[in-house]
Amino acid sequence: MKSASFLPVPLDTPAREPARRRDAVSRRFRLLLSFVVLLATFQCSRVLLQAHTDDHRRAVNVPLDAAGILEKCSLLETKPGPPPDFYARTQNDRFVSGTKPTLIKNATVWTGEADGFEVVHGDILLDRGLIKQIGDISTGSYSEDFVYHVDAQGKWVSPGIVDLHSHLGVLSVPELSGASDGNSHKGPILAWLRALDALNTRDEAYRLSISGGVTTSLILPGSANAIGGQAAVIKLRPTAERSPTSMLLENPYEKNTTVYDPKVAVRFRQMKHACGENPDRVYSGTRMDTAWAFRQAYDKARQIKEAQDEFCTKATRGDWAGLGAYPEDLQWEALVDVLRGRVKVHTHCYETVDLDDLVRITNEFKFSIAAFHHAHETYLVPDTLKSAYGEPTVLPSCHPPAAALFASHGRYKREAYRGSEFAPRILSDNGIQVVLKSDHPVLDSRFLLWEAQQAYYHGLPHNLALAAVTTTPATIMGQSHRIGFLKEGYDADVVLWDSHPLALGATPQQVWIDGVPQLAHPAILSAKPSALQSLPKVPNFDKEAEEVLQYDGLPPLEPKASLGEGRTVVFANVSNVFVRSATAPGVRQLPIAVETGTEGQEGQRVSVIVRAGKITCIGAPDSVCVRDALYASYGADEPVDVFDLEGGSISPGLTTFGSHLGLEEIQGEASTKDGVAPDALNRGVPSIAGGSGALVRAVDGLVFATRNAYTAYRAGVTTGIVSPQSNGFLSGLNTAFSLATPHKLADGAIVQRAGAVHVSIHLGSQQSVSTQIAALRHLLLNQTDGDLGEWFDGIRKGNATLVVDAESADVIATVVELKKEVESVLGLAQGNTLKVTIAGGKEAHLLAQELGNAGVGVILTEPRPFPKQWEARRILPGPPLSHKSQIVTLVEHNVTVGLGTVDADKARNIRFDAGWAALESDKAISKAEAIALVSTNIEKLLGIERDEDEVELVATSGGDLLAFSKVIGVISPRRGVVDVF
Ligand SMILES: *[C@@H]1O[C@H](CO)[C@@H](O)[C@H](O)[C@H]1NC(C)=O
Ligand SMILES: *[C@@H]1O[C@H](CO)[C@@H](O)[C@H](O)[C@H]1NC(C)=O
Ligand SMILES: *[C@@H]1O[C@H](CO)[C@@H](O)[C@H](O)[C@H]1NC(C)=O
Repeated sequence: MKSASFLPVPLDTPAREPARRRDAVSRRFRLLLSFVVLLATFQCSRVLLQAHTDDHRRAVNVPLDAAGILEKCSLLETKPGPPPDFYARTQNDRFVSGTKPTLIKNATVWTGEADGFEVVHGDILLDRGLIKQIGDISTGSYSEDFVYHVDAQGKWVSPGIVDLHSHLGVLSVPELSGASDGNSHKGPILAWLRALDALNTRDEAYRLSISGGVTTSLILPGSANAIGGQAAVIKLRPTAERSPTSMLLENPYEKNTTVYDPKVAVRFRQMKHACGENPDRVYSGTRMDTAWAFRQAYDKARQIKEAQDEFCTKATRGDWAGLGAYPEDLQWEALVDVLRGRVKVHTHCYETVDLDDLVRITNEFKFSIAAFHHAHETYLVPDTLKSAYGEPTVLPSCHPPAAALFASHGRYKREAYRGSEFAPRILSDNGIQVVLKSDHPVLDSRFLLWEAQQAYYHGLPHNLALAAVTTTPATIMGQSHRIGFLKEGYDADVVLWDSHPLALGATPQQVWIDGVPQLAHPAILSAKPSALQSLPKVPNFDKEAEEVLQYDGLPPLEPKASLGEGRTVVFANVSNVFVRSATAPGVRQLPIAVETGTEGQEGQRVSVIVRAGKITCIGAPDSVCVRDALYASYGADEPVDVFDLEGGSISPGLTTFGSHLGLEEIQGEASTKDGVAPDALNRGVPSIAGGSGALVRAVDGLVFATRNAYTAYRAGVTTGIVSPQSNGFLSGLNTAFSLATPHKLADGAIVQRAGAVHVSIHLGSQQSVSTQIAALRHLLLNQTDGDLGEWFDGIRKGNATLVVDAESADVIATVVELKKEVESVLGLAQGNTLKVTIAGGKEAHLLAQELGNAGVGVILTEPRPFPKQWEARRILPGPPLSHKSQIVTLVEHNVTVGLGTVDADKARNIRFDAGWAALESDKAISKAEAIALVSTNIEKLLGIERDEDEVELVATSGGDLLAFSKVIGVISPRRGVVDVF
């Protein structure tokens, strides 16, 4: 403060203790303010006023800008929230003028109210960017011409999906070096950075996420820093202004200024914190260092806050003497605001030790945490969360921190190792609010609803599962006054779904943001089963959830029992039996479950008898073969185990490919993995390992009994195929192995030692694409040394398969051309062609015809594509953005398609990936064909040949393998047992 601005003035307000209550402060502030303003108005230059002689009246220096300072002081204790007149608004501040009102008729409306239990059957009227009315609405005062009518035909409508953890726009796709602004690496504490300053409006993913029903996202800085900066709440729709600022939900309140005006209302801000591996690794060194970084930063903020409070106490009572300048620091103001309860703190934090650290820090410095994100171990320590500091006056922060989770994504690093799919239900049982988030682009936020579906499948009550992606995140962000619910007066962010939102594959038919429809030409699936309109039935996992707690997050995952020789196993109440067949499509449905009634009635059910891992009879419960089998067992005094499948099914075990399942336990921990194969093209293979003729074999690096393998096995995935991990051109030989066995020497552990040679051709590699192609051409046309030469000999003869990992249509086209070139040089006759498979294949649909003609199959390692890299930017997104999915497009051109997965922990979900693919094919893909996508097709495309009679069968209860059923056991003819879980 400049001394020139001092204005010595007598004040007749006696000194006394600061008023604690805000209204008292502001009353006094108003009195003072009017006095000071009056003086300032009339006394522009320095004026000396005679002090009164009264004892407690003194002459003091009042700064010229006293009015401004006192105003600042008066606002220090203001708590965030909408302005008082907010609820009287008749128009959304984001209203796009010219938007017609929309009347959605005959909808089943999940409003989010009554703890997520309220469902209204009726209509919704959207106007001026707001939900104007919900119920039985006639167009009434609205002229018909001016209203869009949408007939929902009784379908479900929900609030727009709210993503509490996204990096949309700051980690943009396609990933380009010029658009990665998620993490600053300038220090562990960066509370002053703002995600808004990096928000890229060119991210391809906005439109994709909207097409999945996401309307609002919290855009957080990354987790490289203890305090990474401030987050931004944005709506995803494109705006007329095209600017990042115009995407902000309500911060600032005025749309056309970035100035934040606390006189209108103080708005909640959001801030990213992170603890554990990420900040430790990048900056701080150890957990102790990170904790100290937090404490040092908060101590600094506390000092500023205390200085401000002291300053304001004195200033407010007119005690200006020696006050100096108002203590503030632009760099620290946001963290000071955390201490004032005006910032929602979002803390990336996984493990118990980190959660405990942060909770201690909240109590030391007295601030609350809105949510722990990722939070993989929160379900083990709910009481730790409950002991976090909570400011009781600020709702909803009197809640303990919420847990913002992935539904099943875990074990990818050490601190995620104890993550559990049962965490959402366990946390909610313990009164902790549960949010499901994407961490986009870690998970594609387009499919955030899928996270809610999985949590529901694993036991989170349906009301809370939907709340976890709508009302709860809106509330946690302090935005529940306008988003997250369907309520009159709320923002018109609405999704009309083609099925129950918790049904697998639920897809928006339309998405409104601020009342503006976002899908210009939505592709609507007409052939979805009507049963999907109701809340799906899900299995009971109470026992499994209990075990997770009992074993501190690491329950044994091996089968509970293996029923072998000398026992009879009966699966009763079976609705469908699918078996593998040597002929296309590789899986067929046995015609036993003849539908006897009309739709909705149960079909005929059969019993399936298994002895020593082999099916001996499939028949009606009173059929001769079933009775004979049971008599024989009872006669021989052999135990009979009966499992009631409640209308479930028997289907072939599935096969997974695309991740490093089988070569690693924890993706982020080198010491748990086989490791990276040397790359023959870039750095060469050491001569001791065979030099340029070496071919690394995945079978030599297999690790068994990993948690991801057992988890997948318990989900009906019985076989894994994996190729050596490589960061370059040549990967090596794949191998097929059992997910059930404890080690390699166990009975049935190796399904096939090697089936195909894998290479990768990608843009942006160390060597140019043309060099990679040159290498492949050389290997295909010329005799080379060693194992490599021998296997390529096999490929030339059509005995072995060549798998090319590629995404770009240009690369794939070149591979197709090279295949023809080689076939012509070698003079191969028609029908005796090279066996080539594309893995990855995100742009393969652009060449569907050519691939079909060339007999080149494709394994889509991401069944629902995401344009992460430039070379994969031309995805075919599927409904509602395109009528046909990529899978359907390829299948229609006679391309053999397999579905893979890139993360080992997601192998468990391939049955749902296949089920989803069938549901969004509009009947182009049958259930049997869908099973083939994740079993026989994969094996065929990877050179794995199996004796069909030896392949495992999976028993599910309550539905077939592609639905929300439960896997009860696996029938293994090879091992002669039935594994039960
Ligand atoms: C609402 O839609 C359902 C399903 O299509 C239909 O059966 C019902 O008759 C419709 N109700 C009205 C009032 O139109
Ligand atoms: C933009 O700012 C000007 C001047 O501050 C104000 O008069 C106007 O109402 C603002 N417009 C909008 C749309 O907020
Ligand atoms: C590789 O094989 C092709 C076709 O047989 C031949 O034309 C070429 O000379 C060979 N190159 C080398 C380096 O052997």
